[in-house]
Amino acid sequence: MAAETPNLDVEKIEATVKHVFGMLGGAVISGMIYLGDRLGLYRALAGAGPVTSEALATSTGLHERWVREWLRGQAAAGLIDYAGQHDGQDRFSLSPEGAMVLAEERSPAFAAGGFGGLPAQMAVIEKLPEAFKTGRGLPYDVFGAEGNRGVERMFAPWFRTMLVPVALPALDGVQAKLEAGAHVADIGCGAGVALIEMAKAFPASQFQGYEISEHALALANANKQEAGLTNVTFHDARTDPIASDASFDLITTFDCLHDMAHPAPVMQAIRQAIKPDGTWLIADIKTKSSFEENLRENPMAGMMYGFSVMSCLSSALSEPDGAGLGTLGFTEDVARVMTREAGFTRFQPRDFDHPMNAYYEVRP
Ligand SMILES: C[S@@+](CC[C@H](N)C(=O)[O-])C[C@H]1O[C@@H](n2cnc3c(N)ncnc32)[C@H](O)[C@@H]1O
Repeated sequence: MAAETPNLDVEKIEATVKHVFGMLGGAVISGMIYLGDRLGLYRALAGAGPVTSEALATSTGLHERWVREWLRGQAAAGLIDYAGQHDGQDRFSLSPEGAMVLAEERSPAFAAGGFGGLPAQMAVIEKLPEAFKTGRGLPYDVFGAEGNRGVERMFAPWFRTMLVPVALPALDGVQAKLEAGAHVADIGCGAGVALIEMAKAFPASQFQGYEISEHALALANANKQEAGLTNVTFHDARTDPIASDASFDLITTFDCLHDMAHPAPVMQAIRQAIKPDGTWLIADIKTKSSFEENLRENPMAGMMYGFSVMSCLSSALSEPDGAGLGTLGFTEDVARVMTREAGFTRFQPRDFDHPMNAYYEVRP
C-alpha cells in the first residue's frame, strides 16, 4: 500500500486527501447555492430574521424535509447562520451581508446569479474527453439558454452599478459624447445588459450589440423589450457584422476576447468601425503575465483554469485554427500586442476595482 512505502510522507497524503475532498465540498455546496438561488430560498431568508424550516418551506411553497436538509447544509458550510432552537425547532438566518451576496440581485456584491449556469457548465464535462482527443472545443451555445443566463447574471451586477456611474465618466471625453448623442457598439454583447444600462442612461445615443450565440441574442432581445428601449439593436455578428465605416464613438468588449475563436479579425473589424477619435473599452479577465505569477499570486487561478477548460478555452478552440487564448490568456502584454497589431496606437489600463476584470482604454 502506498501509505506504507517508507519514502512517502503520510501526513502529506492525508493533507492531500483533505484537500481533494475540500474541492468536492466546494462543488457540492456550489450545487446547493444554485438550488438556493433558483428556488428563492435566499430571497425568502433575506430580512426574515431567524426562521424555522417549516416557516421557510411555507413561505417558499416547498417541502419542509428538503428545506430542512438544505438549511442544515448551508449553516454547516457557513453560508447562513444557525440561530439556535425555539420551541424545539432549529432556526436559521441570513445576515444582511450574506443577503447582499446571495439574495439581492441588484446589489453590487450579488454573486449567486453566476451559479445559475453551473449545471449547464458541469453537463458539458461529459463532452470534454472528446475535445481533449480531437483538439476541437465546443461553441458557446452548447450551454443553452440557462448557461447564457448564468453568464448574464454573473456580470450584470457590475454593469448595473459601475459601468454608467463610474467607468464611463473615467474614459477620456466619452461621457460628453454619450450625452450629446453617440454611436456605440458592444461586441460579444451576451444578454445585452451593458448596452441596455447605457441606452437607458443616454437616450440621445444609439447602441448596437453583436453576438454569435442564438441563446444570448434571444435573451438580449427579451431584455430590450422588457426595458422598453428603442435606441438599442442586437445583431447576429455571423450574418450582420459591424460596419467598417469608422462611425462608432465608443466600442466595448466585455469578457469576450479570450473566448473568441478568432479575436484578431474581430479587433481589426473594431479598428475599421471606430471613429479616428473613438474609444474602445476592453474588459477582460484579470490575469498575470505568466503562469508562474498566476500560480503564486492569483488565488482564483485554479478555478479560472477550470472555467477555461469547461467554457472559455473550449469556445476559443471551437473553430478550425482557433486562437485558444482561454480564461487567463488575455494578459495585459497580449492585449497591448494584439491591439497594436490591429492598428490602435494608444493603450491605457484602467482600474475599476473589479475582483475579476482588468480594463483597458484603447484608441486609434
Ligand atoms: C463570457 S460571454 C460575455 C458576454 C457579455 N459581454 C457579458 O459580459 O455578459 C462571451 C460572449 O462572447 C460571444 N462571442 C464569442 N465570439 C464572438 C464573436 N466572434 N463575435 C461576437 N460575439 C462573440 C459569446 O457568444 C459569448 O456570449
